[in-house]
Amino acid sequence: MSKKIIDGKLVSANIREEIKKRTKVIKEKYSRVPGLAAVLVGEDPASQIYVRNKRKSCADVGIYSEEHKLSESTTQDELLELINKLNNDVNINGILVQLPLPNHIDESNILSSVASDKDVDGFHPINAGHLFEGKPEFIPCTPHGIIKMLEFYNIDIEGKNAVVLGRSNIVGKPAAILLLQKNATVTICHSRTKNLNHELKKADIIVAAIGKAHFVKKEMVKEGAVVIDVGINRLETGKLAGDVDFDQVQEIASFITPVPGGVGPMTITMLLWNTLISLEKSIG
Ligand code: GUN
Repeated sequence: MSKKIIDGKLVSANIREEIKKRTKVIKEKYSRVPGLAAVLVGEDPASQIYVRNKRKSCADVGIYSEEHKLSESTTQDELLELINKLNNDVNINGILVQLPLPNHIDESNILSSVASDKDVDGFHPINAGHLFEGKPEFIPCTPHGIIKMLEFYNIDIEGKNAVVLGRSNIVGKPAAILLLQKNATVTICHSRTKNLNHELKKADIIVAAIGKAHFVKKEMVKEGAVVIDVGINRLETGKLAGDVDFDQVQEIASFITPVPGGVGPMTITMLLWNTLISLEKSIG
């Protein structure tokens, strides 16, 4: 089977061009640019890198961004106060609270406190509800990016067996709903799934999002399957590895995403997209 590498950077570049163009139009017409506020609590090194990359990408497309860096000991009330301020800031169209939050902070309470019309991560229960209903407002960035990649490569979803490996609110659950809305037959697998190999082997499309390096092996994958790897796992060597054993699986997949350079760039791109859309909606 001849495999095709799904190039997340290429798909991203296309969408970012569109974002750039539309941002420029708004700037000329309204003297405004989309604004993103990133809130980072604590010192998690990976989160610091993610926020830095998100802000750099904002700058690349003409989106204003600001970072609110709070100490690990920040209280829930202090964080709520900052979010309230950002909710009322007319220059901010998107608010991103980088996860994970420290243990003493109630994550769902914080995510619910972000104004739903600035919830560019799509994590607010109202936006989760809109997505569930099939009338999405803000779609979580990683699953949205996955669908955009499949569309870019004209990969058929309708009627296909899609297996989502992982059931997080950020990736697994919304990815499953989006694939279902594209008329796939969707199975969600997780740590308690019996006969995981059997389920995976039936998949025409696999979305691997379990956070275990090289978990998906060649023998678990059907010849010709489309394999989307969401994992970003840091190996002891310092190298990044996906949830899929790329070297093996690429031999039988029809399409496969690499790590890095696959899903990762798309996640950031869809965040930029949501921030632009938020401003466009507020302008009317
Ligand atoms: N932590 C891991 N992924 C994400 C994401 O998509 N958004 C936010 N805010 N935090 C994350």
